[in-house]
Amino acid sequence: MTLRLFGTALPALLGLVALIAGAGRAAAQSSTGPTFWMPVQGSTGAAGVDSVFYFILWIALFFFALIVGVMVLFVLRYRSRPGREPEPSQTHNHLLELTWTLIPAALTVVIFGFGFRKFLDLSTSPANAYEILVTGQKWKWLFTYPSGYVDDNLHVAIDTPVQLLITSEDVIHSLYIPDFRVKKDAVPGRYSKVWFRATVPGEHQIFCAEYCGTGHSDMLAQVVVHPPGEFEQWLATNADLLDKLPPAEAGARLYAQRGCSQCHSVDGAASVGPTFQGVFGHLVPLKGGSSAPADENYLRESILEPQAKIVAGFEPVMPTYKGRLSDREITAIIEYIKTLAP
Ligand code: CUA
Repeated sequence: MTLRLFGTALPALLGLVALIAGAGRAAAQSSTGPTFWMPVQGSTGAAGVDSVFYFILWIALFFFALIVGVMVLFVLRYRSRPGREPEPSQTHNHLLELTWTLIPAALTVVIFGFGFRKFLDLSTSPANAYEILVTGQKWKWLFTYPSGYVDDNLHVAIDTPVQLLITSEDVIHSLYIPDFRVKKDAVPGRYSKVWFRATVPGEHQIFCAEYCGTGHSDMLAQVVVHPPGEFEQWLATNADLLDKLPPAEAGARLYAQRGCSQCHSVDGAASVGPTFQGVFGHLVPLKGGSSAPADENYLRESILEPQAKIVAGFEPVMPTYKGRLSDREITAIIEYIKTLAP
């Protein structure tokens, strides 16, 4: 009975392991398309990260199948039966103990070596990489290009090494681009670096991968990978937003791009902060019972020194935008707020 079980269970187990390994190898070798385990390989570093992942996955699956298989087999083979007396257990088997110590130890060293090499590859950018400053803030990513232009999406040129210099305005966030296999913490008061070379044009999702408060799961953005030549064109048309658009229209773009929209609605709905709709030209009730007329100077002060006047019913949680918005940008945002009639 046991032998028969052994005869069918073991080949079945080995077959399963071979099947999984085969499927995995096929998946890893197939083009850049998404697999059961992984999203599309959108950067030159993705294949290397995947190979480390699959290496660890197959080792884990192999030993899982082996250990569980042998365990089930032994439970059946050596179960208690009438007429069978338990034998005294062996105290030591040096060969066995050495085997199950040295093989896992060697495997962990190999996994570390393999992973560390890929880690260094991802951390060391080519000397000619295009640098973009990434700022995490509650709850938005801001991307600052060498020209000084700031956008809420990450635009890059295809087949160009891009280095991200990442920091945070408030708490720890984590920039996560699954398609590029890129994930790096944004820590306030320090800079971290990561780089990639995008290979698949189009849009790729960006997440925040560090729980950072209420809006954590909404802290989304896109990487837009431009075909050759189009990135420079995009940058040129967007960089001089304030010169090209009327102030109120530029202000509407800044409202969406610079994070105002995360806390201030324009449709009258209260959010983390008061709505912008119908605020201009009216008396704003303040904490403590007083009120203030919402004119240009009030709005400017609220942007630069948010704690100076707290609107009744709201918490003093807004960060200052001093040094983060230019005077022209503040004026444009105020012009936009003026257009938001109730
Ligand atoms: Cu930012 Cu989570």
